[in-house]
Amino acid sequence: MGSDFGIRNLFIWCFLITFYLFSVSISAENRITKGQSIRDGERIISKEERFVLGFFSPEGSDLRYVGIWYNKVEKQSVVWVANRENPISGEGGDLRIGNDGNLIILNGNDDLIWSSNATVASDNSSAVLMDTGDLVLLGSHGSDDPSRAIWKSFDQPTDTFLPGMQVYMNVKEGERRVFTSWKSASDPSVGNYSLGVDPRGSPQIVIWEGTSRKWRSGNWNGLIFVGVLGMRAIYLYGFKLINEGDGKLYFTYTPSNSTDLIKFSIQWDGIERQERWNEGLESWDLIQNHPVDECDHYNQCGPFGKCDIKTRPLCSCIEGFVPQDWDQWSRGNWSGGCIRRKKLECLSEVTRDGFLKAERVKLPDFVDYVGSEDIKECENKCLQNCSCTAYAFVSGINCMIWSRELVDIEQFDEDGSTLFVRLDRSELGGKSKVKKIVIITVVLVGIFCLSASIWLCRRKMKFGDRLNKRNNEMPKVGPSGEFSSEFSGPGDLSVEGQPGTGTELPLFNFSCVAAATNNFSDENKLGQGGFGHVYKGILPGNQEIAVKRLSRKSDQGLEEFKNEISLMTKLQHRNLVRLLGCCIQGEEKMILYEYMPNKSLDSFLFDPAKKAQLDWRKRFAIIEGIARGILYLHRDSRLRIIHRDLKVSNILLDEEMNPKISDFGMARIFGGNQNEANTNRVVGTYGYMAPEYAMEGLFSVKSDVYSFGVLLLEIVSGRRNTSYRSTDHSNIIGYAWDLWEGGRAMELVDPSTINSCNREEVLRCIHVGMLCIQDAAGHRPNMPAVLLMLESENATLPMPRQPTLTSMRHSGNADMWNGNHDVVSSNNVTISVILGR
Ligand SMILES: *[C@@H]1O[C@H](CO)[C@@H](O)[C@H](O)[C@H]1NC(C)=O
Ligand SMILES: *[C@@H]1O[C@H](CO)[C@@H](O)[C@H](O)[C@H]1NC(C)=O
Ligand SMILES: *[C@@H]1O[C@H](CO)[C@@H](O)[C@H](O)[C@H]1NC(C)=O
Ligand SMILES: *[C@@H]1O[C@H](CO)[C@@H](O)[C@H](O)[C@H]1NC(C)=O
Ligand SMILES: *[C@@H]1O[C@H](CO)[C@@H](O)[C@H](O)[C@H]1NC(C)=O
Ligand SMILES: *[C@@H]1O[C@H](CO)[C@@H](O)[C@H](O)[C@H]1NC(C)=O
Repeated sequence: MGSDFGIRNLFIWCFLITFYLFSVSISAENRITKGQSIRDGERIISKEERFVLGFFSPEGSDLRYVGIWYNKVEKQSVVWVANRENPISGEGGDLRIGNDGNLIILNGNDDLIWSSNATVASDNSSAVLMDTGDLVLLGSHGSDDPSRAIWKSFDQPTDTFLPGMQVYMNVKEGERRVFTSWKSASDPSVGNYSLGVDPRGSPQIVIWEGTSRKWRSGNWNGLIFVGVLGMRAIYLYGFKLINEGDGKLYFTYTPSNSTDLIKFSIQWDGIERQERWNEGLESWDLIQNHPVDECDHYNQCGPFGKCDIKTRPLCSCIEGFVPQDWDQWSRGNWSGGCIRRKKLECLSEVTRDGFLKAERVKLPDFVDYVGSEDIKECENKCLQNCSCTAYAFVSGINCMIWSRELVDIEQFDEDGSTLFVRLDRSELGGKSKVKKIVIITVVLVGIFCLSASIWLCRRKMKFGDRLNKRNNEMPKVGPSGEFSSEFSGPGDLSVEGQPGTGTELPLFNFSCVAAATNNFSDENKLGQGGFGHVYKGILPGNQEIAVKRLSRKSDQGLEEFKNEISLMTKLQHRNLVRLLGCCIQGEEKMILYEYMPNKSLDSFLFDPAKKAQLDWRKRFAIIEGIARGILYLHRDSRLRIIHRDLKVSNILLDEEMNPKISDFGMARIFGGNQNEANTNRVVGTYGYMAPEYAMEGLFSVKSDVYSFGVLLLEIVSGRRNTSYRSTDHSNIIGYAWDLWEGGRAMELVDPSTINSCNREEVLRCIHVGMLCIQDAAGHRPNMPAVLLMLESENATLPMPRQPTLTSMRHSGNADMWNGNHDVVSSNNVTISVILGR
């Protein structure tokens, strides 16, 4: 008996060893080619042995599935299943390239169980398991580049979101469910839960149970999902939203350490879990899961209710609201939610509604409007629309406005956002007191208005008399400083017979502009910008203006020119110079701007006598302001303008030293085709131009980000980018990098601000600057991210890569620029190089 047992044991051992050798020989392969077949029990392993593809049975099941799991992880963690709806019973399964070139699975009877169903051009295809966990089907070209794949398992994920996967959404088509849970722990077929993105407003991640929402992340603000507590830690994992244009966006993420095994998955019980493999403990560490508690459940408290995990009962109504059904509410059935105690009347300006501030909350779902307004404008926008119920201002998203029921609000302890809920005035503070104040205010305002208008009338009459005596041609300016309609009337020099032409473009009369600028005299000259001379002018009524006389002929026709100007006069942002109108006479074209008494930033920044006026507070405010202005141009204005010539001299300062970007849209006026990402006309300024733009004429919002980075470093250092040319570096970029890398970034800081500066803030600024000037446009952050990084104190910023292209000293590329001495001799002159093509 004993020896019999020994023989059997030996037999088993032999079998195991052979099996082991066999599987080792197979595991050298990471691909399936035509003619080769993977039978049940065999498997393929990715090149660096991270992932395995083969047949498996889930725990508690005998059915066979083809799936992908981690090689290193002892306890099988399946990340993808092919035949999830169509398992094989028995071990006769077979995975191979079919006759039509597709990847197919056959059962023991050679019946087709599953196919990749792609349209394959040649039948000589092969499937490769990549180290990312992606199974790709490749054509016959023999290259392993996954971007040329005919079919990818990453495009048909099951329940797991792996690093590098691209979760697409289509803004036009609305929400998209991408991942679906297993039915149970032992059944990979499609279960009740799905996870995906809802792109409306600003994208967010949603978990659905069937068709109803179970959880949502809150909107994406460029760095984090605002409704996820503690997201700070997660964005170390490089969550990114990539916009491919044309309404196509995708989320992806990369672990900060590529050797980490990380996954998100939507589990069969509807919980989304993010986990990291802990090699030491040989187990998955839970990083986060959702929904994490009762309040994290979608809309736990009904419309206008608020869930707070620390209180009992969990739900309460937002202030100013009462339960819709007291009886049900007191029994803990909160689904009916709350209603207003006092209806909104939406009255006139004076008695208008107010806002209740709810701090540290998860903002409600279904935002109706997302725009670039600042917080004050956002409030006004809400007040002006009677259907508006709340607004919020979130860094990175800016103005958000809701006009329906507010659902899924949660009270947080920390983080969260501030929501302003619209309420009737009487709901805010003591009633009688408010009324008294309102009445007194009304009376006072009334008296003031009356006396002011009497005074203005008198003044206007006198002023009109004087004006008529002096010059009949002079246009009239209203008391508020607005141009009266007569201003665009048919003057002797306005465009032939079509004044105004229905657009609201203020057309100025040539003789009037000439008179205002003292016939373009040299004393009135403010300077020379990229596109012509700029003059100061004074219109009657003492309105000061700046007139840009365009020096070169634009490529555009007259109508197009007027159209562009007309569009741009409608762009309004506190960090953009306001365009007042234009003046056209024959070849002569002029653009009129508001006048900025403090001139441009360089007149302070680089002036030894004046630079001390810009202490660190002011500089930081200027940096932020510029970033906001660019963000508006890139994302929020209707035109989506890429500035293409951002530099210090194009940043003007108003009385309060608020920065205002000028010369935006000049590329449009000069006919660089904004719809093409490639232009053969390079407009820009040496030292500020992103490498891809300077060298290949490729421009994008990221080339503006580059210029912004240079600008930022100049503001921090108080020196021109080219002032470093004589030292070991060709410009500020190489210099700043060397200091930053050597941990001596503070040495970059302008000595005149060193005492007023906040060290953390300065270092963060420089760090952001370094991110903006990276060589590859793809590595640079976009403006929402830039702004967010500048403003978030606790942010952990990604590491920049060393810029090599623009910091090179005597390379061929630098010579390419230096060869053109007449064009690039001055830092202030805009280059317009026509690249030979
Ligand atoms: C492939 O196509 C067949 C027939 O149209 C369909 O039944 C099957 O579900 C498809 N398989 C996959 C993986 O999409
Ligand atoms: C099929 O492609 C492989 C490379 O992937 C190549 O080596 C082989 O020669 C090709 N066979 C045919 C018949 O084209
Ligand atoms: C999925 O939904 C079905 C029908 O509504 C239900 O019977 C089942 O228990 C649900 N499964 C899970 C895991 O919740
Ligand atoms: C990445 O993680 C591995 C293992 O945990 C560690 O040895 C390595 O130092 C890490 N690399 C970086 C750049 O942190
Ligand atoms: C909860 O209350 C709503 C109305 O507020 C009612 O329609 C619903 O039937 C109630 N549910 C339960 C379980 O009582
Ligand atoms: C008010 O808001 C609603 C909903 O967002 C919108 O449809 C409507 O156009 C807005 N009205 C005005 C005057 O802005």
